[in-house]
Amino acid sequence: MKVPVIPTKRLPELLRAMPKAELHIHIEGSLEPELIFALAERNGVQLPYADVEALRSAYAFTDLQSFLDIYYAGASVLLKEEDFYDMARAYLKRAAADNVLHAEIFFDPQTHTARGVPIEVVVAGLHRACVDAEVELGISSALILCFLRHLSEDDALQTLEAALPLRDKFIGVGLDSSEVGHPPEKFARVFARCRELGLHLVAHAGEEGPPAYIWSALDVLKVERIDHGVQAAQDAALMQRLADERIALTVCPLSNQKLRVFPDLADHNLKQLLDAGLAVTVNSDDPAYFGGYINDNFVQLFEAVPALTAKDAYHLAFNSFEASFAPQPAKHAWEHALKACFERFADHQG
Ligand code: HPA
Ligand code: ZN
Repeated sequence: MKVPVIPTKRLPELLRAMPKAELHIHIEGSLEPELIFALAERNGVQLPYADVEALRSAYAFTDLQSFLDIYYAGASVLLKEEDFYDMARAYLKRAAADNVLHAEIFFDPQTHTARGVPIEVVVAGLHRACVDAEVELGISSALILCFLRHLSEDDALQTLEAALPLRDKFIGVGLDSSEVGHPPEKFARVFARCRELGLHLVAHAGEEGPPAYIWSALDVLKVERIDHGVQAAQDAALMQRLADERIALTVCPLSNQKLRVFPDLADHNLKQLLDAGLAVTVNSDDPAYFGGYINDNFVQLFEAVPALTAKDAYHLAFNSFEASFAPQPAKHAWEHALKACFERFADHQG
């Protein structure tokens, strides 16, 4: 569609109001410090931080690994089905308030099974929260099981086997955790098996790792979307491939800023990726740790990069629906709602 002209001063309002999908959110990364302490108390878990403020002040990251160390510590309070339910419920409520119509939610079963929490407990709590949120909040959602890439492929294969009886409760698999030194091809067999099972495939690649990891995520793992992928900009042939095949990148601006992938939000390359014709989306990654949910990511990025326009906003939201794994009729309905929102703003009614 021809995107209407919308005054720059109304951009933040438009970014918040526009319907959108979130495709890159780690549910364990939505655990707010207040909920971490409440669950620690409920479960009798001892935390190495005195209080919420002490925990929050530890959120000073220098790279991906410095974040992951604290992120896994935070997840240690999750023991019961109700804990997973409460965490996902809080995220879905927050996402619905940001006009997220659909969320595809990552979870890390190995973080929990390693502590003796059965995968059935993890999935039951998360899935029930998704079902209830659809009824009570009108938000659509689905789960994507992520393998931890710092662990072995055998561990991932065992995790997949354990998850198979729950196959109807997740739509796909992903790959996350420490990227450098753990290339996608390390997980070739487990992804091939997931592909045979008809699961959707995504992988984190090109967050801190080189463009070669994006190539192998596509060619070896055969993923349908790349999570992050911002390092693609270093490789012209890869940029061309991503544009030609409309392979979506789930970009997370505040995460990239906080983990120093870019020195500053103003240096972020999202606009460059978008202008090169890539199917870019905006997402929050780990909102409780990186200082904002999806609308904060949109608003802060557009503030820091004044070249971004209402037209870019439209494309980013449109891409989020298009790149989702939702059924075609739902995508069309959401895209229609997006168009209606922009028309409302063009008419100055908001
Ligand atoms: N990268 C890799 N692993 C993760 C991330 C991330 O941004 N967030 C949670 N696990
Ligand atoms: Zn991520």
